[in-house]
Amino acid sequence: MTKKILIVGSSNTDLVVKTDHIPAPGETILGEDCIMAAGGKGANQAVAAARLGGDVAFIASVGDDMFGKQSLDNFAREKMDCSHIKTVPGASSGIALICVDKDGENSIVVAPGTNYMLKPEDVSEDVIPADGFVLMQLEIPIETIESVAAKAKAKGAKVVLNPAPATPLSEKLLDGLYMITPNRGECATLTGIPTDTDEGLEKAMCRFLELGVKNVVVTLGSKGSCWKNAEGSGKVATMKVKAVDTTGAGDTFNGALCVALSEGKTLETAVEFASRAAAISVTRMGAQPSIPFRSEVEM
Ligand code: RIB
Repeated sequence: MTKKILIVGSSNTDLVVKTDHIPAPGETILGEDCIMAAGGKGANQAVAAARLGGDVAFIASVGDDMFGKQSLDNFAREKMDCSHIKTVPGASSGIALICVDKDGENSIVVAPGTNYMLKPEDVSEDVIPADGFVLMQLEIPIETIESVAAKAKAKGAKVVLNPAPATPLSEKLLDGLYMITPNRGECATLTGIPTDTDEGLEKAMCRFLELGVKNVVVTLGSKGSCWKNAEGSGKVATMKVKAVDTTGAGDTFNGALCVALSEGKTLETAVEFASRAAAISVTRMGAQPSIPFRSEVEM
């Protein structure tokens, strides 16, 4: 039977401009028209999991401004439980300013707003699915992440942490994590081990296992992804696609990965499914607008 997935994280409105290149410090460049799209790593992962068939609940914090209201309207159109989302009166919702270059690579600045008002007490123990998955990222306060992870571990839920944007993590948080899903750069930042060679990457993945993480999945962009746990390791290639906008690809990967795991798929199969979903997302503009539905990903 499919297990429940609780996602706790950020919700942003993305203001996106496509440009020829990412501007250098002090440089002003002209881009195309500005697109406003739903984003935020938490919300993107929740929407991905819901569109791909997961049994999803999402907890976030938004303001009662135009952006927060629009986010709630968008969530209502997705098949997920949003009944625990908090609205903070008089506060500004999260905003992300995103520049996407001609190769689809991006640079992002986030004004966290109400994302940083999501408190440990906003996630009560009863909403944590005892034998399900809890997926989090690092765009909300670390105390909230630590508190939810501790409650989830105590209840027997599998905690998956997407450590983006990379922030120092305590050994207590890492110990007993079911899975961590950094990209190559985050893997290096968090372990202090350079990951620009395959040997370095292998060492860094081992480091997470030594710290008590049960499964490590590293996303490698167009080079696919790799995984490692006590039983073995593997590499999964990704589909070759023409990248238009990579924003939210990692989020689509994480949402998809949790859906496949919640259905009892093996880690290798789950990583393959997640890679396909992420590859499709980079062929379209915007974070949430680009997230595919199950029928598009099914192999
Ligand atoms: O991972 C992409 C997301 O990062 C964007 O949607 C933006 O809102 C930031 O949170």
